[in-house]
Amino acid sequence: MISAANLTDPAVDEAERYTAHNYHPLPVVIAEAEGAWVTDVDGRRYLDCLAGYSALNFGHRHPDLIAAAREQLDRVTLTSRAFLHDQFGPFCRDLARLTGKDMVLPMNSGAEAVETAVKVSRKWGYKIKGVPDGKATIVVADGNFHGRTTTIISFSTDPEARADYGPYTPGFRVVPYGDLDALAAAVDETTVAVLLEPIQGEAGVIVPPSGYLPGVRRLCSERDVLFVADEIQSGLGRTGATFACDDEGVVPDMYILGKALGGGIVPVSAVAAGREILGVLRPGEHGSTFGGNPLACAVARGVIALLETGEPQARAREVGAHLHRRLGELIGRGLTAVRGRGLWAGIDIDPALMTGREACEGLMAHGVLAKDTHGSTLRLAPPLIVTRDEIDGAVDALAKVLKG
Ligand SMILES: Cc1ncc(COP(=O)(O)O)c(C=O)c1O
Repeated sequence: MISAANLTDPAVDEAERYTAHNYHPLPVVIAEAEGAWVTDVDGRRYLDCLAGYSALNFGHRHPDLIAAAREQLDRVTLTSRAFLHDQFGPFCRDLARLTGKDMVLPMNSGAEAVETAVKVSRKWGYKIKGVPDGKATIVVADGNFHGRTTTIISFSTDPEARADYGPYTPGFRVVPYGDLDALAAAVDETTVAVLLEPIQGEAGVIVPPSGYLPGVRRLCSERDVLFVADEIQSGLGRTGATFACDDEGVVPDMYILGKALGGGIVPVSAVAAGREILGVLRPGEHGSTFGGNPLACAVARGVIALLETGEPQARAREVGAHLHRRLGELIGRGLTAVRGRGLWAGIDIDPALMTGREACEGLMAHGVLAKDTHGSTLRLAPPLIVTRDEIDGAVDALAKVLKG
């Protein structure tokens, strides 16, 4: 139902006026959401094909996760890590089981978990590998996106993310993504870790050549280097597996997780690794006031329980295959390329037709929310509960937009 009053425009104006312009949101003001759908302040409904950049893998307000949150809200929400609480041990145990690792360290945002991985890798390098103090290097890939802190943007190759924020943190080497020879050449006795996204999300859902991730795994094992997989966007069901590394039969030394771990309710991130790695930390050497709080742990336990049924992964595979089939039909009809895996697609629009932003505005007019990334590339990542019919609706809308 469309309300007589236009509530969208004033809300857009207010946000424009009182917020730093570090985002350029579509002019939609969401008031409510359920499952794969959101409703704006004027009563218009949209299929959410971004899902909070994969933070909403299980959909908006999944009943099990809302129930877990509600129950926890009535008990205890914050203790700080100065004390233990009764959700902490079970959450760490459950996540260790899901990842197959010995230990986990919870944080809040993805960037904090990446920072944690960088710090732990360096410390492991000094204490265990024997790298001379202050000399540790970490090899990363160009096109990476690992977050927004000053250290993380120091090894970004995206000028927008990096410019004007120097001086930059040293200790990182950037190599082309997907190039094993370049990676091997960059690793030396100072290298403590190779930090990669198994599929690069922000770069436009870039899937590396088959054999690349197993090659990285081999190289890291041979050269005594930690393979750190940033699965913040690719993990927890998105690609049709629990982790995108699973698709290549690869087990990294450390997983970095975030986004969907919080069920779209609270920010929850974590790293998971073996005892010989996370065991290097001692009291006082790293921490976070909110990391591992009771509410976060209760919701994340619900997320882990959902993933342990295998259903979200199965749906991502099944409905994802349908999505890719349907998108494939648009190649040569406005699309120049479709990439991705599971319910995750990067699509390149013929730049002669329109920009990614224009395509998103067109989709919005047809009741579909999506996000452009670079230039004419769009990223589609609907919640994993989306149906084939809903996918058909979204792809039909895209076809209409591309026809102009
Ligand atoms: C692969 C990857 N790593 C890290 C991050 C940063 O996460 P956050 O925005 O929660 O700090 C993101 C966010 O998009 C991401 O996609």
